[in-house]
Amino acid sequence: MLFLSLISVVIVSVRGLGSSCSAPVTRGAAAPEDPYWLETIPHRGKSAFNDDPAYEVFRNVKDFGAVGDGVTDDTSAINAAMSAGARCGEGTCGSSTLTPAIVYFPSGKYLVSSAINTYYYTQLIGDAKRPPTLLASPNFSGFAVIDADPYIPGGAGAQWFINQDSFFRSVRNIVIDLRQMPAAAPAIGLHWQVSQATSLMNVVVEMSTANGTQHQGLFMENGSGGFMGDIVFNGGKSGITVGNQQFTVRNLTVNDAVVGEVTDWYVGWTYQGVTINNCQIGFNLTTGGTTSATQTVGSEAIIDAVVTDTPVFISNSVASNGTLAGSLVLNNIVLENVPVAVGVLNGDVVLPGGTTHIESWGQGNVYTGESGDAVFTQGYINAANKPWNVVDGNGRIFGKTHPQYADYAASQIVSIKAEGAKGDGKTDDTEAIQKVLREYAGCKLIFFDAGTYYVTDTILIPAGAQIVGEAWSVIIGGGDRFQDQNHPHVMVKVGEAYTEGVLEITDIIFSTVGPAPGAIVIEWNVHEPWDQQGGAGMWDSHIRLGGAIGTDLQVSQCPISTINPSCQAAFLGLHLTPGSSAYLEGTWVWTADHDLDDPLSQQTNVFTGRGILSESLGPVWMIGTAEHSALYQYNLVNAQNHWIGFAQTETPYYQPVPTAPAPYSSNRAYNDPVFSDDIIKAWALYVQKSWDIVVFGAGFYSFFQNYTQDCLATYTCQNQIFNVDSDSTVQVYSLSTVGTTYQLSVKQQGVINQSDNADGFQQTATAWFRW
Ligand SMILES: *[C@@H]1O[C@H](CO)[C@@H](O)[C@H](O)[C@H]1NC(C)=O
Ligand SMILES: *[C@@H]1O[C@H](CO)[C@@H](O)[C@H](O)[C@H]1NC(C)=O
Ligand SMILES: *[C@@H]1O[C@H](CO)[C@@H](O)[C@H](O)[C@H]1NC(C)=O
Ligand SMILES: *[C@@H]1O[C@H](CO)[C@@H](O)[C@H](O)[C@H]1NC(C)=O
Ligand SMILES: *[C@@H]1O[C@H](CO)[C@@H](O)[C@H](O)[C@H]1NC(C)=O
Ligand SMILES: *[C@@H]1O[C@H](CO)[C@@H](O)[C@H](O)[C@H]1NC(C)=O
Ligand SMILES: *[C@@H]1O[C@H](CO)[C@@H](O)[C@H](O)[C@H]1NC(C)=O
Ligand SMILES: *[C@@H]1O[C@H](CO)[C@@H](O)[C@H](O)[C@H]1NC(C)=O
Repeated sequence: MLFLSLISVVIVSVRGLGSSCSAPVTRGAAAPEDPYWLETIPHRGKSAFNDDPAYEVFRNVKDFGAVGDGVTDDTSAINAAMSAGARCGEGTCGSSTLTPAIVYFPSGKYLVSSAINTYYYTQLIGDAKRPPTLLASPNFSGFAVIDADPYIPGGAGAQWFINQDSFFRSVRNIVIDLRQMPAAAPAIGLHWQVSQATSLMNVVVEMSTANGTQHQGLFMENGSGGFMGDIVFNGGKSGITVGNQQFTVRNLTVNDAVVGEVTDWYVGWTYQGVTINNCQIGFNLTTGGTTSATQTVGSEAIIDAVVTDTPVFISNSVASNGTLAGSLVLNNIVLENVPVAVGVLNGDVVLPGGTTHIESWGQGNVYTGESGDAVFTQGYINAANKPWNVVDGNGRIFGKTHPQYADYAASQIVSIKAEGAKGDGKTDDTEAIQKVLREYAGCKLIFFDAGTYYVTDTILIPAGAQIVGEAWSVIIGGGDRFQDQNHPHVMVKVGEAYTEGVLEITDIIFSTVGPAPGAIVIEWNVHEPWDQQGGAGMWDSHIRLGGAIGTDLQVSQCPISTINPSCQAAFLGLHLTPGSSAYLEGTWVWTADHDLDDPLSQQTNVFTGRGILSESLGPVWMIGTAEHSALYQYNLVNAQNHWIGFAQTETPYYQPVPTAPAPYSSNRAYNDPVFSDDIIKAWALYVQKSWDIVVFGAGFYSFFQNYTQDCLATYTCQNQIFNVDSDSTVQVYSLSTVGTTYQLSVKQQGVINQSDNADGFQQTATAWFRW
């Protein structure tokens, strides 16, 4: 005993150097019967710029009269919790950052008889310890149990939101049960027609398995996503029925459905971890379109799947033979009693199945090195050389769910507001935040109550910190220190350089008050502990620059066709430094192309220098997107061991007015790409002296030329978009581009000519390698 207590004294004194608490938060202390801490902590969160002092961000449906006994109809109580406080929706408001909300469901069974229509900027969160069930009543009438973009009755197809602009939504820890409804009813669990900065996690949909069932787990007709993960669909006509520009899906399970995934269109989706049991078809894909008018499935990239007792894994509606499109990439697929791996509807078997393992297989044009010769392939393609430290013990790409700290006790949470930060969007909270981080990092979960926290200098988040926001709390930097692009200054420093430890950030937005041409929004230094893969990361946390109240970078200051120097939002979004590792899941680095708080959603000319710069030696997992920075969206320099899931980028709409890098200048200290008379637009991905980089799905879009779109039809919005130098080793799969002449360049010489790869709205090269 004495010996043990001596040891703990020693630990205290070591920890005491930086923090005043005695035990590191490594384990939750909640009693088994305790509800999830999010339910019981005091709720102090406010929307900083909302004029209504009574506006509440956190809403427990039981406070609005929901009973949760599986018998009482709770629909109107839930919808009251959703809509209270003049929120944004109903087709009269396209977007707003003023009315964020968490609609919280304690454990229980909530009977619903019509749709839960979700307003903009809502997180629907169930008790993470004992997820609640939304039980559709036998007489349920409505489009879907959870409807993210309702159709307006009698509106001739009009909906509440513009599907490509439907940002900031999440559903977590919820079971949806459709089984009381007749099997023949066209029931839908989730209508999830959404875009970036959205997520689903830990969601289950239970459906009828009766012969002829018409139930569908998730339905999505279009949008521009996004990420979803840890989702399970049982029964039904289909698990998910989806069309959307792009998505990354991690850890999808479909059991006992007729079809796992039904798709009639998209540019490209990446699936990472798929389990399909006892379906008729795993993926039923409509294929064959080669123009935007005939858009079908452009590309599908699946890694790490286990398929069991299913006659066909992947069905294409027409054969792909080099002129008819439909790119496919399969990697590490385990089939058990699956006679056809890839087949054509009512036609040929393209790849026989059985009980077997498919190491690597592709359909489409494959390229190597500096040769622009397309080799049409339906067969083995070089397997991704997965970096050793991005895979788990089974050789699959490692994944880690957004931490929710289900087993933590309310006493293990510290509120940043209770500790003195104001979060009102104007008080300088730099000192208050720094004090809390110093005191509690590694000891308590640090809760950023909803609000906008203004900082005027660097905030250091030390290794050991676990930070949780509430409906995307905002940390916003501004002031004198962020003005000089020749001497950029860090706003949020994640770990001191070359430190190691657990560091987790969830549900936070990082932003700036303009002008801030010298701001490095996040400098990420921390490295995961040697024994904790994914220990340092961010989930559902975004860098959002301009386009919102409080940024001074809205349509009134920064209308299009103006180059206002005061509309410079940041020098660089995210910098992964050489000593760092990072697990980034659902991290959107977005410079506003339009104003979220303008009733007309007008476009804006906001300028950010750079998106993501990585010099990390890894491991790095990036399952996110980057859009609209002036010089590049991703720049990898001396980087190593990166796994990049579907990477989606857009070139700024204003370019070439001004031409890149203006209004910034190239900075050698940051290894900026060189621009010239020929290279005048932002790079989507620029790779310099980097090794073992795997890009598994990419959509690099260049839609505009000075806000006009004539260039789309001629693929001349941009000449080059993705460059690899002569030293780097990169493997890229499912590479789609829009509006761009060369899909890939080596040493700034175009290699892959888009004309070989017509695939719908986009062009797709199935694979490119350089070892
Ligand atoms: C459906 O059933 C519920 C619960 O039994 C009831 O409250 C509701 O009024 C019914 N709705 C319709 C449209 O019949
Ligand atoms: C399902 O229903 C169809 C049409 O009624 C019928 O032909 C088929 O035999 C049924 N299958 C099973 C397994 O009951
Ligand atoms: C999205 O899907 C709906 C329903 O199919 C359709 O009416 C609408 O035109 C689509 N919008 C876009 C931009 O594709
Ligand atoms: C996948 O999701 C299921 C259901 O949420 C979960 O139980 C499982 O742990 C997840 N697996 C991984 C590898 O994340
Ligand atoms: C798969 O999709 C095709 C349309 O491309 C459809 O005809 C067929 O019935 C679907 N198969 C199943 C099992 O749903
Ligand atoms: C591919 O298939 C289409 C439709 O069956 C056919 O018209 C075309 O000639 C084929 N192309 C090649 C290269 O075989
Ligand atoms: C860019 O567009 C604006 C607005 O249409 C126009 O006035 C300007 O001349 C254009 N500039 C160039 C270089 O095309
Ligand atoms: C791309 O290939 C097409 C068809 O061969 C050709 O007409 C065009 O000139 C090529 N483009 C470039 C930039 O080389």
